[in-house]
Amino acid sequence: MSLKLEGKVALVTGSGRGIGRSIALKLAGEGARLVINDLDAEPAMETVEAIRAAGGEAIACAGSVSAPDFAERFIGTAVEGFKGLDIIVNNAGYTWDSVVQKMTDEQWYAILDVHLTAPFRILRAAQPVIRSLAKADADAGRRNVRKIVNISSVAGLFGNAGQTNYAVAKAGITGMTRTLAKEWGRIDTTVNCVAYGLIRTRLTEATADARSTATIDGRDIRIGVNPDVMEMMARSIPLGRAGTSEEAAGAVYLFCIPESDYVSGQVLMCTGGLTGI
Ligand SMILES: NC(=O)c1ccc[n+]([C@@H]2O[C@H](COP(=O)([O-])OP(=O)(O)OC[C@H]3O[C@@H](n4cnc5c(N)ncnc54)[C@H](O)[C@@H]3O)[C@@H](O)[C@H]2O)c1
Repeated sequence: MSLKLEGKVALVTGSGRGIGRSIALKLAGEGARLVINDLDAEPAMETVEAIRAAGGEAIACAGSVSAPDFAERFIGTAVEGFKGLDIIVNNAGYTWDSVVQKMTDEQWYAILDVHLTAPFRILRAAQPVIRSLAKADADAGRRNVRKIVNISSVAGLFGNAGQTNYAVAKAGITGMTRTLAKEWGRIDTTVNCVAYGLIRTRLTEATADARSTATIDGRDIRIGVNPDVMEMMARSIPLGRAGTSEEAAGAVYLFCIPESDYVSGQVLMCTGGLTGI
């Protein structure tokens, strides 16, 4: 049986954990060759090893997507390592919440950098590479639609108290998606977006410990959600529960397969049926 993404080269940011890791495993399971990124080498290498152990191909490109030189390095890793570039998933990110009157410039820019500036730089660096690969495909009479999938959130579509920075960044990525869908049709590339509701990962882990933090870009950032809040949020979801990272990966996968070659500029909500917050 042939695999849906046999031989495709796929890049996924923030794929050392959570949704990104599940996306990488899903794409690799369908035959794609993966460039895995995460802040630190350790989680990135764990995903690389998991893919290799299952018989797939993967290489790591560790480092912060917010670093100014990251985009060129990331795209370069795919081109040098696998001689191609077919799928990019802009997934890396975290939240750093405050009500607006307490939000610092540092908080504002850090979240815009990771969720908006980084995807912009990655896609800017990818464009000339995709253009020349698309031309080579056309010259050789090969049909190959390339795929970009950006990750947004219901916070970006409907707003969420305490998340001005995150909601603005996640709203911005939908604008980038629709704009590049218009620019990139001529290079046979679809650009779509998946907006998640509540997905169970480290970011949304139920924890009663208000001091639960992760070190991200040298800062200790609060992670996890109070269990009571989690339960209340889950009750408002038509399917009655938070999604799993595997279910979240499924929505990205839909945009990566040949069956969606004529779908571009779309924002798909993966929310268990929630249509607003
Ligand atoms: N979990 C949810 O409910 C939910 C809801 C809406 C949107 N999202 C979005 O989904 C994406 C994935 O989140 P998740 O829930 O899997 O979180 P997660 O914390 O489980 O995984 C995110 C990964 O991204 C990495 N990362 C963070 N900043 C990075 C940086 N600067 N450079 C490289 N890697 C970086 C982290 O180290 C981590 O491994 C994010 O964009 C998030 O905003 C998640």
